[in-house]
Amino acid sequence: MATIVTCDSRHHSTREIADYIVEVLRTTNGSAAVFAELDEVGNNIDNIDALVVLAPIYQGKFSEVASRVILANQAELARKSLFVAAVGIAEQLPQDVSDVLTSYRPRELGYFRGKIDPSVLSGAEKRHVDESEYGDFRDWDAIKRWAQTIGNRGAN
Ligand SMILES: Cc1cc2nc3c(=O)[nH]c(=O)nc-3n(C[C@H](O)[C@H](O)[C@H](O)COP(=O)(O)O)c2cc1C
Repeated sequence: MATIVTCDSRHHSTREIADYIVEVLRTTNGSAAVFAELDEVGNNIDNIDALVVLAPIYQGKFSEVASRVILANQAELARKSLFVAAVGIAEQLPQDVSDVLTSYRPRELGYFRGKIDPSVLSGAEKRHVDESEYGDFRDWDAIKRWAQTIGNRGAN
């Protein structure tokens, strides 16, 4: 059994979540999960049993590059276990994004709050976010619970 955890991440907070999920899968679920970049997924799809895709929401939309990788491998993924989680600053996953992600038929759909560090944002990015949204809202316990859930459901 092999699991790839992959992600899109503009400012690295989603990548840190992906790395933590790999660590939890490996240490508490005995999984041999590894991290791979999104553009490596297609080349490895035949060798894996499970794919975990994490990506942020920017301006109301789930990462297009992550969606493209899922859609490009949809036929193969139908025979494997797909797990998807979105990362955003909102308290809940918006319904329209949830509908899109549900259409990819993941075995589990997760949502985690992310991080906005104003020191790494461009001027244009700063105009799209409110200062009240600055901060690190990642809930590592919730992320761990999700990792264990997917570990028990095939990400191993
Ligand atoms: C310019 C900008 C736009 C964003 N738009 C949204 C949004 O529409 N909805 C949301 O929930 N979070 C939004 N976020 C928050 C990001 O999803 C969050 O910061 C996430 O952790 C970023 O992941 P990354 O560090 O891996 O790029 C936005 C953040 C920035 C900087």
